[in-house]
Amino acid sequence: MSHKKVAILISGGGSNMVSLLESMTGDHPARPCLVLSNNADAGGLAKAAAAGVATAVVDHRPFKGDREAFEAELVKPIFETGADIVCLAGFMRVLTAGFVSQFEERMLNIHPSLLPKYKGLNTHARALEAGDAEHGCTVHEVTPLLDDGPILGQARVPVLAADTPDTLAARVLVQEHALYPAVLRRFASGDKTPVQLP
Ligand code: GRF
Repeated sequence: MSHKKVAILISGGGSNMVSLLESMTGDHPARPCLVLSNNADAGGLAKAAAAGVATAVVDHRPFKGDREAFEAELVKPIFETGADIVCLAGFMRVLTAGFVSQFEERMLNIHPSLLPKYKGLNTHARALEAGDAEHGCTVHEVTPLLDDGPILGQARVPVLAADTPDTLAARVLVQEHALYPAVLRRFASGDKTPVQLP
């Protein structure tokens, strides 16, 4: 069986990327082919290299807001490594419809809320402000609308009275590390049945 090849895009520490790398072993239908960042200082790059995975950096800053020019460079290592699936994992650049359309139905993202609630940033503070009893994270297919594509999995956590955005984020992150690998394994085997945790 030939494995599906997975490129993972990061901007920071890459804890979700590490969880994905660690999951792609044994009878898993996919293997990592690239870890790519827009940030040369992303801590995840060293973790990927230590795991023996090819890395690349395309810094967005020289492009000074010319998203198309940045994306024309960003896409090169993804095609050069022959990625079948692209996983956004803590990747903090908004991608244009032009970029996203090249990976229709084969690009995933993890977002730290129970979509469709709290698209965008500061999701944990917004859940606390709203007084929600539960919160969580979502893996979805990436479509041109931000944080809007078909949901492939969700994990729920309780919101506790003493929670701060940081304590809630930490509880959600633990679930992200369980959810994303579970969704990728199912997605890479051609099964789009949503994963629900717990
Ligand atoms: C996580 O909260 C994730 O939900 C968001 O980026 C944050 C950092 O992720 N997408 P990571 O540790 O860099 O994987």
